[in-house]
Amino acid sequence: MTADRDLRVAPSVLAADFARLGAQVREVVDAGASVIHIDVMDGHFVPPLSMGPQVVSALREFDVTLDVHLMVERPELQIGEFARAGADTITIHAEATPHVNYTLAAIRDAGCRAGLAVCPSTPPHFYREVEVDLALCMTVNPGWGGQPFIPSSTDKVRRIAELISDEAELEVDGGIGPATVAGAVRAGARVLVAGSSLFRDAEGLGHAVSDLRARAEAARG
Ligand code: DX5
Ligand code: ZN
Repeated sequence: MTADRDLRVAPSVLAADFARLGAQVREVVDAGASVIHIDVMDGHFVPPLSMGPQVVSALREFDVTLDVHLMVERPELQIGEFARAGADTITIHAEATPHVNYTLAAIRDAGCRAGLAVCPSTPPHFYREVEVDLALCMTVNPGWGGQPFIPSSTDKVRRIAELISDEAELEVDGGIGPATVAGAVRAGARVLVAGSSLFRDAEGLGHAVSDLRARAEAARG
């Protein structure tokens, strides 16, 4: 079972305006976000290409946790580069490599926290077999921002919470916003990744970050 640790809002820069990336990250950090989520896509594990280690090193100037979500095949080949770029947490997908154990160990050897993500169709049993620092329950199918939260994810978050250690963080990613955050938090999620709900908020980024945190705090009670 996860400990009742602090809630953390983790803006996903996939939804940012890349011409204003630094300014937008400054804005979310000033509004209280302590994690920046960086989505890396390789065009194979998921169809799109997104960003690489250069973005991680550029964002290293901010005093926040850099949370790298590798949606790539053979993630074991990428660990060194992302660790050297300044990642704090590197999360791989259980579906992306037959070498999950080895890759989690390589992430820790590189000085980072080791995360394991599962797609919506993947049962949570992987978490019985490995020790993780972070469990990422995908609440949409990976590859794109702006998709609706999959309702059955809430129950899955609950089941994952039962399988991971007290020290591990439980993160949700996909479709998290004002309407879905409370259910995810009540199920046990503590790191809340959000892209479009923050970066497309009509009242602005800072407002969106504080509003999401307030809703999450209220749901935790
Ligand atoms: C999807 C990514 C997410 C994405 C979430 O594959 O892993 O991090 O940015 O975007 P929203 O919050 O818009 O669903
Ligand atoms: Zn992500």
